[in-house]
Amino acid sequence: MAVRHFLTLMDLSSEELNQVLQRAIELKAMQHRHEVYEPFKNQVLGMIFEKSSTRTRVSFEAGMAQLGGSAIFLSPRDTQLGRGEPIEDSARVLSRMVDIIMIRTFDHASLELFAQYSQVPVINALTDDFHPCQLLADMQTFLEQRGSIKGKTVAWIGDGNNMCQSYMNAARQFGFQLRIAAPEGFDPKPEMMTKCQGHVTITRSPEEAVAGAHLVVTDVWASMGQEEEQKERERKFKGYQVSEQLLDLADPEVLFMHCLPAHRGEEISMTLLDDPRAVVWEEAENRLHAQKALMEFLLKEAQQ
Ligand code: CP
Ligand code: NVA
Repeated sequence: MAVRHFLTLMDLSSEELNQVLQRAIELKAMQHRHEVYEPFKNQVLGMIFEKSSTRTRVSFEAGMAQLGGSAIFLSPRDTQLGRGEPIEDSARVLSRMVDIIMIRTFDHASLELFAQYSQVPVINALTDDFHPCQLLADMQTFLEQRGSIKGKTVAWIGDGNNMCQSYMNAARQFGFQLRIAAPEGFDPKPEMMTKCQGHVTITRSPEEAVAGAHLVVTDVWASMGQEEEQKERERKFKGYQVSEQLLDLADPEVLFMHCLPAHRGEEISMTLLDDPRAVVWEEAENRLHAQKALMEFLLKEAQQ
């Protein structure tokens, strides 16, 4: 059987994604009971990071250790990847040595190329275009706090970036309506809009997007790799800050999520993360549980 990868949310069926979320909730309960569960003894996760990370690195590394396996952190600074060894060669070599690989990189096409030459499952740990692991955690958090997201309305406020495009895929896979409020010039890619027709709308008005929404989400205005655009983006995204007052326009039961790290005073008000509607710490914790469930799913598939 062909090896299964997780490069975007579209690589699993809706049923499989829901199965992973249910399993994440079970693994979380086991973890909280301090139950030892080590199905991956002797298994190794390779972790390639070409961009910074706190949550992703720690959740994958801790998750693999908790499942009885181990993880190797690889950065371009001290591997041959950073000295121009072709991606295809690196994929062929690494995938003969480890059982599963996660990659955080810039160009989504590089991740696809790596996966094409890998004998073992490859997980997207963030590219310029998608961040599907974060969506597993977000969807788990909504499910735990409010039940199924099917038929609900989600408002995305801000940049049409990797997180926004992952929410677009989630709208298709989990069956919700996504309203995106982005300033002109910062829409998601047109091909994503075409693929997500019927699930996604764009407006320039955060108030319009948030009205009656069950989940409100935002992200930084300048993503990793866009640092030099920071000042210009601060000007263009003015008016797209999520505040307590903006959330007051949403459904009374609304939740607020942010993948973190957050910039208080920019995309969120100074105090938003202290509002009871914000569930960002639960959301961050769920990275651990959701990715353990994902690795279990992919490794089981690989062993079949
Ligand atoms: N949300 C997220 O992916 O965080 P890190 O950049 O810290 O991994
Ligand atoms: N959009 C952000 C997400 C960080 C987790 C970035 O790509 O930097």
